[in-house]
Amino acid sequence: MNAITVKASKTYQILIGRDILPQTGLLFREIVHKASKVMLVSDDNVFPLYGERVSSSLRKSGLDVFSFILPHGERSKNLDNYGKLLNEMCSVHLSRNDVVAALGGGVVGDLAGFAAATYLRGVSFVQMPTTLLAAVDSSVGGKTAVDLPEGKNQVGCFYQPDLVICDIHCLDTLPVEEYRSGCAEIIKYAILDGDGLFSEILETPICSQYENIISRCVMLKKKYVEEDECDTGCRMLLNLGHTIGHAVEKCSLYSIPHGQAVAMGMAAAAKAGEAMGCSRPGLSDTVGGIIASYGLPADLPFSAEELAEAALYDKKNTSRSIRFIVPAELGNCRIITAEKNGFIDWLKAGGAK
Ligand code: NAD
Ligand code: GLY
Repeated sequence: MNAITVKASKTYQILIGRDILPQTGLLFREIVHKASKVMLVSDDNVFPLYGERVSSSLRKSGLDVFSFILPHGERSKNLDNYGKLLNEMCSVHLSRNDVVAALGGGVVGDLAGFAAATYLRGVSFVQMPTTLLAAVDSSVGGKTAVDLPEGKNQVGCFYQPDLVICDIHCLDTLPVEEYRSGCAEIIKYAILDGDGLFSEILETPICSQYENIISRCVMLKKKYVEEDECDTGCRMLLNLGHTIGHAVEKCSLYSIPHGQAVAMGMAAAAKAGEAMGCSRPGLSDTVGGIIASYGLPADLPFSAEELAEAALYDKKNTSRSIRFIVPAELGNCRIITAEKNGFIDWLKAGGAK
């Protein structure tokens, strides 16, 4: 098992290994000494698979377990479910000594984290990521949120977890589409990192080296989070592919999964960077090649105007300008800011109609 420590506003450990969920109770006891209750938040795909394994381990450690199960999918990450979860926490008298735990992908983790951050002005929070995407990205770094009809993650806050337990055994049941979504975020880290990680995942499939690759990505994310926890500087680079990606998700009414949308966003950013003369010639083929090799889509399915309109609601913007990340070279990405019409030009250069 690998243990990685993040030193941000909270210091916490990320444990990465196979078959570690049965130790959940003991691991909880090491960090939340006074807790008597756990609100276990999950979704209707994940809970039947792993809920009992986690609950029974928590019970063995003397904790009362309550569960809140969301319908799976992005559309559940909303204010309505957030409110229902808070009501449930009140009704079981969850106290400030108790714990909220997220067992699932990024949807569960983002919503449960926001509830943990805001209930009684903050209770302990443990992430147990069960998707590849959540393992490498959303369970680490403390971004919590729910979506509004106007856009993704429009309500949320920074709230670091107290512990992350990443059991790679859970990835065995991940549908191939979700595996690919996680690969998109890993490709993002590989582009940011430069040569090392990029060639490793080009040569050996991610699924045959989970523990190594998840640990590498978490180490990279740790660096950005420790340097810029609140996302006002270098952490913005982690949004590579995300400004366009979030716009794609919104235009698709969230039928296109996050990771696929991020893949489209990265491919378009690389293509646009090259067309606009700020990326190395040939880089977009390199980026497009690895995206294709993981079975991910690259072409933008919406017009530049539609995407720019959707992107205006992105948190990464100021009132008039849109911020996005363009890779100049592997290991060297730049933050670009453009007004809506300028962004439309970038999108067209990136292949949008
Ligand atoms: P998700 O939580 O919707 O999970 C994807 C699907 O996989 C769901 O249907 C889920 O039920 C299923 N699933 C999960 N684990 C499974 C398992 N082990 N076996 C079988 N099925 C399983 O989506 P996601 O891709 O994990 O996360 C996407 C969300 O994360 C988005 O809302 C995105 O905005 C957010 N996100 C947040 C951050 C952050 O820093 N907080 C970073 C990246 C993404
Ligand atoms: N997913 C981007 C970040 O955590 O900053």
